[in-house]
Amino acid sequence: MERHYSIAIDGPAASGKSTAAKGVSKILGFLYIDTGAMYRAFTLYMIEQGKDPKKEEDALALLPAFRMNEDSRGHVYLFDRDVTERVRERDVSALVSYACAYKAVRERMVEIQRELAKRTSVVMDGRDIGTVVLPNADLKIYQVASVKARAERRYLENQRKGIACSLAEIEADIEKRDYIDSHREHSPLTKAKDAILLDTSDMTIEEEIETIVSLFRKKVGESWKDTEQSR
Ligand code: CDP
Ligand code: CDP
Repeated sequence: MERHYSIAIDGPAASGKSTAAKGVSKILGFLYIDTGAMYRAFTLYMIEQGKDPKKEEDALALLPAFRMNEDSRGHVYLFDRDVTERVRERDVSALVSYACAYKAVRERMVEIQRELAKRTSVVMDGRDIGTVVLPNADLKIYQVASVKARAERRYLENQRKGIACSLAEIEADIEKRDYIDSHREHSPLTKAKDAILLDTSDMTIEEEIETIVSLFRKKVGESWKDTEQSR
């Protein structure tokens, strides 16, 4: 059976995980899986159904009917509707850390994520990939950047997308979300012991991608070269 590889990228909000993961997956020919998008899609579903993500019973009531999908272009679908842009908006960002903290919600998402990683080589980004979802990943990266750098990046990103928001609001949102994500009971954001710490505050996107690809090549060595040559 063909050997499948996995790269886990975790870290706080806007540290550049998904940008790096997309770039790395393109170079290596792996599938990129954005796990944050799954929790965001569930949060949007709750909002649209008039439910309160801060109430566990509301989340549990909606979980069985929830269906989402991600395609290889990184688009996210809630049922059949493309919600890729919608799930990045501020109302979802402000509530996602509540909706994703419940044990049953996490178990359901982790099951989907592991199933995807079984079928092919993946680059997966999130908060608990190296610690919970793929504890045996071939390479684990824990990506950080200063709050200032992260808020500025998100601010520019929102401006490009036409999402209205002040820099101060973004900084406050990020700090709040980091706090909730790191202090929750189930699968909190934390660095896996065997993850490599990567501070991207002063790195360009290209440097970030090159660093991760070269760490991966070094880590898996000869076994990867064989697979690469046979592709
Ligand atoms: O892109 P950004 O870092 O802003 O967020 P994201 O990766 O889309 O994740 C949104 C939220 O989902 C996070 O703040 C976490 O609360 C939650 N999340 C999680 O709990 N576990 C994951 N594996 C991924 C995301
Ligand atoms: O996935 P995560 O929330 O960790 O971050 P992201 O969505 O990949 O990156 C947040 C923003 O920072 C994006 O607009 C990236 O283009 C930008 N970025 C950057 O300016 N420099 C980097 N080294 C990495 C990302």
